[in-house]
Parts: sequence; C-alpha cells; structure tokens
Amino acid sequence: MLQTSAGAQPLWMQPALAPRVQVDLNQVAAEVLSSLVPRASHGAAVDTRLEAGAIPPVAADATLLREVLTNLVLNAIEAMPEGGRLAIRTWAGAGRVYCAVSDTGTGMAPDVQRRALEPFFTAKGLTSTGLGLSVNYGILRGYGGDLAIESAEGRGTTATFHLPAASPSDLAPVVAGAPGRRQL
Ligand SMILES: Nc1ncnc2c1ncn2[C@@H]1O[C@H](COP(=O)(O)OP(=O)(O)O)[C@@H](O)[C@H]1O
Ligand SMILES: [Mg+2]
Repeated sequence: MLQTSAGAQPLWMQPALAPRVQVDLNQVAAEVLSSLVPRASHGAAVDTRLEAGAIPPVAADATLLREVLTNLVLNAIEAMPEGGRLAIRTWAGAGRVYCAVSDTGTGMAPDVQRRALEPFFTAKGLTSTGLGLSVNYGILRGYGGDLAIESAEGRGTTATFHLPAASPSDLAPVVAGAPGRRQL
C-alpha cells in the first residue's frame, strides 16, 4: 500500500479562504453523497455508505468543504466506471476531526500516486483539469488540516483528511447549503 502526502505548495495555489465557522462535516458528507453520486455515476452501480461518527463541528467553511468532498467523491466515482463501493467515514480524535473517502476502484500506479497532489497532474487525459487534489490540499492546509492518500492498484483508494475541531470562539454553526439572505 503506497501512501502520498504533499510537500510545500507554491503561494499561488493557496486559495483565499473564507473565515472559519463551525461546520458539521457529517451533514456536508450526506449532502454530497445524496446529491452528487446519482448524477455523476452515469448509471454505474455505486453503492454508497456514510459511516458518520460522533464528531464535533470543524472550523472551516461549508462551501469549501463541500468542494473538498466533491473532488474526492468525483475521483472515487471516476475510478469505478463499472461501479463499486464508495464509503465516507468520519471520526474524532485529539481535537481533530478525521474523514476518509474510500473506493473499490482502479487504485493508482506508483508513479500516478507520487504525483497525484501536484497542480495540473491528471492521468485522465484532456477532459480533466488535474486540480481536484491540489485544490483540496490547499484548502485543507489553509484551515490547519492535512490530506493523505493510500492506494493499492486494482483494489482501491482511500483519501483521508483531518481538520481542527471548532473552538467556542469560532462562529456558531451554519446550515450547510442554506441560501444566504440577500438584501436587494
Ligand atoms: N480515487 C482515486 N482512484 C484512482 N485514481 C485517483 C483517485 N483520486 C485521484 N486519482 C488519480 O490522481 C489524479 C489527480 O487527481 P485530481 O487532482 O482530482 O485530478 P483529475 O481528477 O482532474 O485528474 C487523477 O487523474 C487520478 O489518476
Ligand atoms: Mg479529480
């Protein structure tokens, strides 16, 4: 089993982050699974499971976390063109919240895995940007978290990230996906 995590990232890859608020990662994961998987799997039988642990809110931004999970879930689906199993698991430990997205897809060859977090690296040809994992890495590092990938060729991949649990000084929970009030 190979494991990848990235080194330093160039400054231009670091996104301007939204202020930290309390986000329920289980809720974001449930939304991404229910809204994205049916549309993105193009009829392949993808069996999804959310193993939602008892976790405190994380200190981040709901929209950016939805992007992180969307990128990971799309990669998982794209690795399983004939279908398979996709699981998101969350758990808490030592002031942090962990989240693992695993699939039973193609896995990665060692040279792909070594480069997977590089900006613009893709093994999917011209239709893909190769930005999903590097953008994720920038977002997660920006909120004090990290991302690591384990993969076994022919068996599947698990991408695991962690973020700091929110502290009372972070703003109150926001409902992920709730439209903001607009004043015209
Ligand atoms: N779950 C996965 N299973 C197999 N390969 C993966 C997975 N996630 C990422 N990869 C590999 O890492 C590369 C980079 O991923 P990413 O940054 O999301 O870019 P993109 O999906 O646009 O190619 C992919 O092209 C693919 O080869
Ligand atoms: Mg991708």
